[in-house]
Amino acid sequence: TTEDLQTLVLTTLDKSNTISDTKDLTFNDAPVDQLVLFGALASLKSKEMIDFTPIECVSWVLTEEGKQVAKDGSHEARVFEAIPAGDEGLPIAELQAKVGPSAKPGQGKAFKNKWISKKGANLVRLVDSIVDETQKDLKEIESTGTLANEKTLGELKKRTLIDKQKTTTYSVSKGPDFSVQIKKEATDITTDMLQSGEWKNATFKKYNFDAAGVPPQGGHLHPLMKVRQEFREIFFEMGFQEMPTNCFAESSFWNFDALFQPQQHPARDAHDTFFLKDPATSDRYPRDLMEKIKKTHEDGGDTGSIGYNYVWKEEEAQKLILRTHTTSVSSYMLHKLSEETKKIGEFRPAKYFSIDRVFRNESVDATHLAEFHQIEGVIADKNLTLGDLIGFMDIFFKKMGMDKIRFKPTYNPYTEPSMEIFSYHEGLKTWVEIGNSGMFRPEMLLPLGLPPDVRVIAWGLGLERPTMVKYGISNIRDLLGHKVNIAMIKDYPICRLDKKMGKELVGLSE
Ligand code: PHE
Repeated sequence: TTEDLQTLVLTTLDKSNTISDTKDLTFNDAPVDQLVLFGALASLKSKEMIDFTPIECVSWVLTEEGKQVAKDGSHEARVFEAIPAGDEGLPIAELQAKVGPSAKPGQGKAFKNKWISKKGANLVRLVDSIVDETQKDLKEIESTGTLANEKTLGELKKRTLIDKQKTTTYSVSKGPDFSVQIKKEATDITTDMLQSGEWKNATFKKYNFDAAGVPPQGGHLHPLMKVRQEFREIFFEMGFQEMPTNCFAESSFWNFDALFQPQQHPARDAHDTFFLKDPATSDRYPRDLMEKIKKTHEDGGDTGSIGYNYVWKEEEAQKLILRTHTTSVSSYMLHKLSEETKKIGEFRPAKYFSIDRVFRNESVDATHLAEFHQIEGVIADKNLTLGDLIGFMDIFFKKMGMDKIRFKPTYNPYTEPSMEIFSYHEGLKTWVEIGNSGMFRPEMLLPLGLPPDVRVIAWGLGLERPTMVKYGISNIRDLLGHKVNIAMIKDYPICRLDKKMGKELVGLSE
């Protein structure tokens, strides 16, 4: 077995330091199989216990016919033996019966060797005795793998008695981690090892980066990503541009202050929002914009508002957080839009959307996660009214299959008026909240630098709830997070034909 061979190699090395050629190794008095040995050597080498290099050599082996000759004598010798001494000899017709298949090749060779000749219809001996050189040569090849006489080797090969064979043997030396004992190598850390502390002393098997891995069966899109794509297509066909949402970490400035959310607002405390420790702050916002926003919060500035009447602090705005909504991106994009307006000297209407992750410090349950995806839409144009928002919502949600839409007044620090969006759920026979919307306040838009007659309507909804409805998932933790069953992603259908949500439940994950 491999273990026996490994022990043999290690004890031999221990005694004599090196093995110059493994062809000399014997196990139980038999030469070792070099192929099995190779496996044993490779495994010892991977543990750095030994080092080895191959020795290629060409040797001769007997063919089946050659083995027969080595055992029973050559065809020519058998023909010679079959002919009795004396003048009588043997009638040619009887040779076949005596030596079988050796008759034909044996006769020719025996004639050539001048051992026999023809006398009438008989074969007679020409010599008293012979030496069977062919048998002797084959026996030597059988034990040594070769012969001194190249010419004879060629002849024997021609007679198909021998064949060339390539063999690989090895020269072996001690490796940096040599020892006579083979260490047990762990392939994986187990719970037991962690609990007993055994992992500290364990030796781990090295990764074999050259090993051929399991071929992947193909990629699979997560259901959330598929539904996201459906929403993206609705936005694109309605002429919207996608906002860059690659900033998960955002300053409170863009997430709250720029949205006219006062610094004492409860959403800004650690119970609702994740704060970053390192780095804890960022001041990547324009100073002049900050001054305007500070003034607006404190006393309304030039907006005609009286503000919140408190002392605005920059430390609060600098606090880095995981964005709590994608409206942080909208505020940043609207500021960019106003910069662009100033640059080209003319306002151009804009339609923006985004679908990406947001984070809230919430306790996780069947319908809530600490991170989820928001769908956000923003339209900026002159003279937009609440009627435009309601009309637009009707079209947008119809495209998603929800045709009964209703609005209810609500409050957001950054929109006035604000409306929660409800959709009628045929199954539940009730109105279900699906999103939140409103017209951004002048206290937000004017400091951002937009022309005073520009109105901005906006709305937001969650991506998880519509996805759960479409895919029949009842626990949000089956959809997102560390408990998700990867096979589920693979097993869901590639496409659903019921693109419409119809009477089903959609809503904001809140
Ligand atoms: N940001 C809001 C939320 O997270 C959604 C919203 C977006 C409301 C835009 C009004 C306007 O709930």
